[in-house]
Amino acid sequence: MTLKIVKDAPSDKGPRLPIVSIDGPAGAGKSTAARLLAYRLGFLLIDTGALYRVLALKALEEDVSLADGAALARLAARLDIQFGKLEIRNEGEIPRLPVFCNSSDVTDSIRVPELGMAASNVSKLPEVREALLSLQRKYGDTGGIVMEGRDIGTVIFPDADVKFFLTASVESRARRRWDELTLSGADIQLEQVIGETRARDDQDSNRAISPLKQASDATLIDSTSRSLDDVVGEMASTVRTRCHK
Ligand code: DC
Repeated sequence: MTLKIVKDAPSDKGPRLPIVSIDGPAGAGKSTAARLLAYRLGFLLIDTGALYRVLALKALEEDVSLADGAALARLAARLDIQFGKLEIRNEGEIPRLPVFCNSSDVTDSIRVPELGMAASNVSKLPEVREALLSLQRKYGDTGGIVMEGRDIGTVIFPDADVKFFLTASVESRARRRWDELTLSGADIQLEQVIGETRARDDQDSNRAISPLKQASDATLIDSTSRSLDDVVGEMASTVRTRCHK
């Protein structure tokens, strides 16, 4: 698909390709939809939840308290976090997003369930958000990115060219997560996953700084009773309509 350059870059580097933001609560299918959309568009994918996860992982490894904002910000300054190109190893697979920290591959280690809440804990600290803000904006310098998170359309890129807010009912989000966990061998009750999903929603939506919130100009997509294909199809055609020559 051909994409028009829709806005001038704020720097002197000339015009840039579009920035697409996808925000929403945990488990709405954001990460999978973002991967498929970015792959389809040939854009880079920046998964900002991964930044908070890497920081939490390194803090646990280095015995830095998850409540010490200043120490976490100092730790963040030492981390070089890079995203690789989306890759599909077998036909029909969801693309894999390689994540590196200081040249080590942390793609799988940041996905363990405990790091979800640990990332949520560090993400509510103002010093941490401040430390990761300029890094996130830097990824957008050249455009041609899909960036997913909680505050992309509201705080990181309020002028993003196309914004989505992807949500689904708590029960359906928890059930998806439970399916994934049990499939990978975890012994966990659905009720526990529903409780954890509510707790994380509550923490992400009610924190003082950059809470999870739909931007007023974001397209709302409720994935509760829709297939992934359908959701990604709507996103791709919205981007096409807004950015096509
Ligand atoms: O999307 P995720 O589950 O990988 O994100 C992990 C945590 O990081 C999530 O609970 C909230 C936080 N987060 C955030 O505060 N802001 C973002 N832009 C992305 C994630």
